[in-house]
Amino acid sequence: MNNKPHIIVEPTADGSATLFVKELDEHYHSVKGAITESQHIYRDSAFLHRSDGTPIRLLEVGFGTGLNAVVTAMVADEQHPVHYISLEKYPLEAQLLTTLAHDAIVDPTLLRAIHDSQWNTPIPITPYFTIEKRISDYLVDPLPQSIDVVYFDAFAPDKQPEMWTPKAFARLYDCLNIGAVLTTYCAKGEIRRLLSSLGLTVERLSGPKNGKREILRATREK
Ligand SMILES: C[S@@+](CC[C@H](N)C(=O)[O-])C[C@H]1O[C@@H](n2cnc3c(N)ncnc32)[C@H](O)[C@@H]1O
Repeated sequence: MNNKPHIIVEPTADGSATLFVKELDEHYHSVKGAITESQHIYRDSAFLHRSDGTPIRLLEVGFGTGLNAVVTAMVADEQHPVHYISLEKYPLEAQLLTTLAHDAIVDPTLLRAIHDSQWNTPIPITPYFTIEKRISDYLVDPLPQSIDVVYFDAFAPDKQPEMWTPKAFARLYDCLNIGAVLTTYCAKGEIRRLLSSLGLTVERLSGPKNGKREILRATREK
């Protein structure tokens, strides 16, 4: 993908909009439902599953539209405090984020605060949700350490295979605390085996309603 890809806004089946990248022939979210995917795969199956009242350090691979971030911010509270670090190599233009109209389906004040927050520094959005958006190449730049939750939301393996290699996952594994969980929408056998080969315990979970049949959750048990 070059720095100025051709990106258009498209509706998804649950009424929330996503983006389509023509050069990659790829969407930012499931066409079966963008917000449904964020809530089920990332918020519920990873963050709320792992959250135990202690502050969570969360790493998102691919900030994109910020939908996963705001969906998480909306449930962050005294019982679920989180430092949310999100990596993005190609930040989207503000105009595109406005056209998506995600402010109609999430807390608009939180969404705006997340979108307006400065890059490359931690910014407290609420007492329980701090965002740290990093303009960063996941494959090259140093990764944050001591991570409890990973939202692995890269473009699909057939569209961006370099994000899904054994080498890249081995580097990610080294950032994980014991007990850390990673979820992703991709349940391919090849990815499942790769995560297992690193020593992670991998579960296949049901996908979002009306969406993908299965998703993956990988846990670092030791
Ligand atoms: C499926 S989208 C993420 C959707 C996002 N989580 C959301 O809630 O809107 C994948 C994202 O990964 C980003 N990306 C691609 N290559 C990357 C890299 N090497 N490092 C960091 N981000 C990358 C893309 O620009 C895109 O925003």
